[in-house]
Amino acid sequence: MTHGPLVLGIETSCDETGVGIVRGHTLLADAVASSVEEHARFGGVVPEVASRAHLEAMVPMIDKACRDAGIRLDDLDAIAVTAGPGLAGALLVGVAAAKALAVALGKPLYGVNHLAAHVAVDIVEHGPLAEPTMAMLVSGGHSSLLLVPDVTNDVRSLGSTIDDAAGEAFDKVARVLGLPFPGGPQVDLVAREGNSAFVVFPRGLTSGRDMERHRYDFSFSGLKTSVARWVEARERAGEPVPVADVSASFQEAVVDVLTRKAVLACREHGVDDLLIGGGVAANTRLRAMAQERCDAAGIRLRVPRPGLCTDNGAMVAALGAAMVARGRLPSDLDLPADSSMPVTLVRV
Ligand code: KG4
Ligand code: ZN
Repeated sequence: MTHGPLVLGIETSCDETGVGIVRGHTLLADAVASSVEEHARFGGVVPEVASRAHLEAMVPMIDKACRDAGIRLDDLDAIAVTAGPGLAGALLVGVAAAKALAVALGKPLYGVNHLAAHVAVDIVEHGPLAEPTMAMLVSGGHSSLLLVPDVTNDVRSLGSTIDDAAGEAFDKVARVLGLPFPGGPQVDLVAREGNSAFVVFPRGLTSGRDMERHRYDFSFSGLKTSVARWVEARERAGEPVPVADVSASFQEAVVDVLTRKAVLACREHGVDDLLIGGGVAANTRLRAMAQERCDAAGIRLRVPRPGLCTDNGAMVAALGAAMVARGRLPSDLDLPADSSMPVTLVRV
């Protein structure tokens, strides 16, 4: 599609400075600068370092996105920006930049929810979303099951993690296994050479009682501890740790619970379309098991390509374009950055 609203989206909720440009359902540019390497030696994202990196990367990324898309800022119909949730200082950089652009250009501004944007990004990959869509978002900061009747204004939370996010569990287990940060992609890689049935690690919140109280919630903290204990015991015994086997077994436990609960949520809500997004959606085993279980249950599965699953500006532009197309009202120009923006609030 070569028509539809032309929207520039800015994403700065964590360590990626993303500027994307979308026209209707078509991605025109996706410029991303990451500060992940600056955080690596700390083993996690340092908020102040991330904020400073956003400041430095913002103007170059806006320039690059416009160049790549072959547009001028004047051509835009609207600006969209992640207003939350995320790191407060990091969000502020994006929100301030978006406000400056909106004021200078006289264009409407949409301050949008990061999680809804993770869902909307698949519009530029696979076309308009089914309504409703079931969305499972799994990343370093969130693990949620969302019922999405309309991504531009109706997102409902069915469940989320009660402790660690899925990506956080990957990162922490990777550290226990001596793999570099961010650990998710490393675990994914080494697990390919491992035996996923080597250790049967616990499946959090899947027992009878838990399924009553936390039917669509997740818990990965017990699993992480269980892996750490297993590795410690091995080391105490002076035996080598089979990193590939432990990675594969841990990954299997995470992916088993995620896909089981996502398919259950679809079935119990009569939803035939499942979308998986967020950084962990890049995981090869998650993609494979989700496809298998969706096929068996007659559910259509959509997963954006890995580059669109991790944080980027395209997802914000995609949501902004969908909002403009649906005639949703823009935000006020004094919109706040809301680090704990509820998932049910699509736009501030
Ligand atoms: O969506 P994202 O880029 O940022 C957040 O909003 O958190 O997700 C980053 C997270 C990290 O925890 C990273 O380890 C994880 O996604 N991740 C993966 C893979 N690629 C990234 N986890 C498992 N397997 C992967 N292939
Ligand atoms: Zn994210």
